[in-house]
Amino acid sequence: MKYIILQDYKEKKNLYDLWNSEYQNIYPISKELFEKNIANASLEYSYVVIDDYNNLIAFIICKFWNDEYSIDTYDENCWISLFYVKKTNRKSGIGTKLLNLIEDAARKKGKKYLYLGRDYLNFFPGLPVDFVVNRPWFERRGFIKSYDTYDVIKSMNLSVKNKLILKNTNIEYRISTLEDKENLIAFIQRNWPGRWTKETIDYFENGGTGEEYVIGISDCNICAFAKVGLPTTKTLLTSYSLTWRNRFRALGGIGPLGVDTSYRNKNIGYDIVAYATNVLIDNHVSNIIIDWTGLLEFYRLFGYEVFKSYTYMTKEIKK
Ligand SMILES: CC(C)(COP(=O)(O)OP(=O)(O)OC[C@H]1O[C@@H](n2cnc3c(N)ncnc32)[C@H](O)[C@@H]1OP(=O)(O)O)[C@@H](O)C(=O)NCCC(=O)NCCS
Repeated sequence: MKYIILQDYKEKKNLYDLWNSEYQNIYPISKELFEKNIANASLEYSYVVIDDYNNLIAFIICKFWNDEYSIDTYDENCWISLFYVKKTNRKSGIGTKLLNLIEDAARKKGKKYLYLGRDYLNFFPGLPVDFVVNRPWFERRGFIKSYDTYDVIKSMNLSVKNKLILKNTNIEYRISTLEDKENLIAFIQRNWPGRWTKETIDYFENGGTGEEYVIGISDCNICAFAKVGLPTTKTLLTSYSLTWRNRFRALGGIGPLGVDTSYRNKNIGYDIVAYATNVLIDNHVSNIIIDWTGLLEFYRLFGYEVFKSYTYMTKEIKK
């Protein structure tokens, strides 16, 4: 058996094939999704394990923030993006050894915390509920469980295809265009400097035209936004809401979204979700997912219910 740095392992396809051999039905990882999400992985600190016949049997993909764009606390943390040991090779110490390799690197780099998921370009925002039997494995290795977070879903069968009615008549809601780019980035930067801003910048740098953002406008200023994932959105431009799109006939997504601090408590948050939902209905989606949220009661107002839950799991890296 050999442990190899992922950077030196050329057959990247074997990683998602191995993953899919067990999880194809619930968390299918396509080539496009895999390549998008490992674009910022730290390949020199990620590992694969191959057996004596050269078959891949395990891997761990980790991320250390290595981008010029500064996001609060990202420099001091690191992430396990994807971690898998083949079923027939479990309970023989491989997982522990892989985790130790990541922790050693994190310690050497002076990192404070190691997270499960939640990485920039993540597959998961925590440990997925479907892997809950593995939670004690991580807890025995020093990970602490904190909050649960959710993806919510709305199914578009014929009876619920009715458009939602907006509450504010004095706000213009519309799909954004390339001309809104600077104002949209500035608006998000002002309210949510950090990850959401970086995602918006990346979206436009990857050829986004603006049609995946809906905006609310008051007195010529953007006061709210929601990112939407259309069934036709190209993988590089998708947000996390579309991660598991291959499970659905025509998945739409919403999120991130937000209202300017000075416009809150005026039902504009309600309207931007309703408007985004209506845009997706116009695009004939079969389902809509809003990812990584704790606002279950709010989204229930529109008919969204829990699709998946995830547990935040964090390990403090001791010196
Ligand atoms: C979580 C996961 C990576 C663990 O991998 P693993 O290789 O089975 O891990 P280990 O073999 O190191 O540990 C498993 C148990 O076997 C025990 N074990 C280790 N070597 C052993 C040996 N030679 N003989 C018997 N038992 C052994 C370990 O002590 C451990 O038990 P413990 O937790 O009570 O200490 C694996 O279960 C997995 O791939 N799960 C699905 C994917 C997943 O959950 N990924 C995380 C989110 S992406």
